[in-house]
Amino acid sequence: MVPDDALQAHYALGKEQGRLDGGLGLVEFERTRELLLRHLPSPPAVVADIGGGPGRYALWLASIGYAVRLRDVVPLHVDQALRSAREAGLAIDPKVGDARDIDLPDGSADVVLLLGPMYHLPEATDRARCLREAHRVLRPGGVAFVAAISRWSPRLHAHLVRRAYRDFPSMHEELPAAERTGVMRPLAVGGFVGYAHRPAELRAEVESAGFECLDLVSVEGLAFALPDLDERLADETDRAVVLDAARSLERVPELLGLGPHLLATARR
Ligand SMILES: C[S@@+](CC[C@H](N)C(=O)[O-])C[C@H]1O[C@@H](n2cnc3c(N)ncnc32)[C@H](O)[C@@H]1O
Repeated sequence: MVPDDALQAHYALGKEQGRLDGGLGLVEFERTRELLLRHLPSPPAVVADIGGGPGRYALWLASIGYAVRLRDVVPLHVDQALRSAREAGLAIDPKVGDARDIDLPDGSADVVLLLGPMYHLPEATDRARCLREAHRVLRPGGVAFVAAISRWSPRLHAHLVRRAYRDFPSMHEELPAAERTGVMRPLAVGGFVGYAHRPAELRAEVESAGFECLDLVSVEGLAFALPDLDERLADETDRAVVLDAARSLERVPELLGLGPHLLATARR
C-alpha cells in the first residue's frame, strides 16, 4: 500500500470530525488557537487552511472575519467541512487538494495553516514540496503555521499512555525503527501513517523552504499523560492550570518533544 492509500484508509474510518471537541483534542484546539492569535494579521485577511480536515479551524477563522480557503486530500473531510459551513452560514471555499500541489495563485494568502500534512508525509521530499508550496502561495511577510507530531509521541502517548500495544502487539517491535527514522507505518488497515519530527528537524525543514522560523513550541505539553484530563477540563480552575502548564513550558528546549504536537510559526 502506498502512503496516500494508507492515509485515505485511515481517514475513511471517519474519526476525525469531532476530534477537537473534547479531551486532549480540546487542549490541542485551545492551545493552537491561542498560538495562531499571537501572529494572525487582523481580519479581513486570506487564510489558506491546507489539510484543513473537517474544518474546525476554518470555521472558527471564518466566524471571526477571515476569508478562508480550505483544502484537504480526503474527500470525506471536504464534504464534512462544506456541510458544517453551510449549517453555520459561513464561506470557507472547501475543495479537495493536495498540500504538495496547491491550486492557489502565488502570493495570494496572508496566512497558511499546515495543521496536518507535514505529519502525514513520510518522505522528506514530499514535506519539502509541501513547505515550498506554502511559501509560494503566501505573500511576502505572510505567516505559516506548521504542525508536526513529536518523534517521541508514538511511545509516550500511543504506547505508554494509551496502551495501543493491546490492539496492535507489533507496536513493541515497530517503535525503535519509528524513533530512529521518524516514519510511522500503519499497524493495521486504517492505522495512522505519517512522520514524527524531532524539534530541530522541523525547524530545519521550515528554514530550508525559505522561511524565517519565528517560533517553535510544544502545543499540549504533558496534558496527554493526565488520566483524569476530562474531569480537569470540566473544572474551570483545573482547566486553566492544564492550559497554563502547556503555555508556561511551551518553549523549554529540554521539554519541546515531550508532548504530542509541535507547532512552528514561520514568516515568508
Ligand atoms: C489530523 S487531521 C487535522 C485536520 C485539521 N487541520 C485540524 O488540525 O483539525 C490531518 C489532515 O491533514 C490532511 N492531509 C494529510 N496529508 C495531506 C496532503 N498531502 N494534502 C492535503 N491534506 C492532507 C488529512 O486528510 C487530514 O484531514
